[in-house]
Amino acid sequence: MTKRDYLTVTDFTKKETLELIDEAIKLKHERKSGVNHNDLAGKTLGMIFEKSSTRTRVSFEAGMMQLGGHALFLSHRDIQLGRGESIHDTANVLSRYVDGLMIRTFAHSGIEEFAQYAEVPIINGLTDEHHPCQVLADLMTIREEKGDLTGLTMCFIGDGYNNMTHSLMEGAALMGMNMHVASPEGYEPSADITNKVHSLHETNGGSFQFSHDPAAAIADADVILTDVWASMGNETEEAERMEKFADYQVNGALVSSAAPNYMFLHCLPAHRGEEVSASIIDGPRSFVFEEAENRMHAQKALLKKLL
Ligand code: CP
Ligand code: NVA
Repeated sequence: MTKRDYLTVTDFTKKETLELIDEAIKLKHERKSGVNHNDLAGKTLGMIFEKSSTRTRVSFEAGMMQLGGHALFLSHRDIQLGRGESIHDTANVLSRYVDGLMIRTFAHSGIEEFAQYAEVPIINGLTDEHHPCQVLADLMTIREEKGDLTGLTMCFIGDGYNNMTHSLMEGAALMGMNMHVASPEGYEPSADITNKVHSLHETNGGSFQFSHDPAAAIADADVILTDVWASMGNETEEAERMEKFADYQVNGALVSSAAPNYMFLHCLPAHRGEEVSASIIDGPRSFVFEEAENRMHAQKALLKKLL
């Protein structure tokens, strides 16, 4: 059987993604009612981190344990990859020990190279360009609250050239949702991903719209998302970004034109008072902690499918 990887949201079809979400919801209910699983007994997931993480690390590790398997945390500071051993050799060697690899790294081309040389499934735990596992959990959270995803309007306010924005654009296009993105000039989403989602919308329905106007983007939105203004890797641009993004904060005034029963989502970590006001992220329409919890359930479904 040829291995499957999960590097971007569109590596799975719409049907496969919906099946994963429904399996994740089932696993969540079973976990809460005390049902134990042993599907991944004897299996090991290697987890290579070249950037910090709270949710991704713990949700994958706990998820593997809950499925009867084992997870290995491999910091780039400790393995030879961080001292210059090639991706080719690392992928080849680790494939002989583990049953799957989750990788958090910088350039997306790095994880593609891993996928090329590894003989085991590669799961993207975040690159500069994509964060598919987070979006799987986001779609699950929306499905739990709203049911059918088709035709819902999702909006993202903030950094357009961002892993979350790109994966959300792909998720919306796969599901036939309408996606509105508003970002300051110079922070537009990738042109390649924009072209790809336009053609996916032609097949699946819904549409993609980009503007520099957050008020226009948020009008009637069912789901509102944002993310940090300076992602991991952008630390030196922080001061400049704070200025350029100042009018892009998700706050009470901005959300007043969204659908009354909107959901607010944020992948976390968040900066209250920057990309979102405390009144919104800690308010009654925020689902951020359910969303964080769903990382684990969604990834359990993914691990069961791939490993
Ligand atoms: N949302 C997310 O990926 O969080 P971590 O950086 O803590 O893993
Ligand atoms: N865009 C953020 C997401 C963190 C989970 C970053 O890359 O730092």
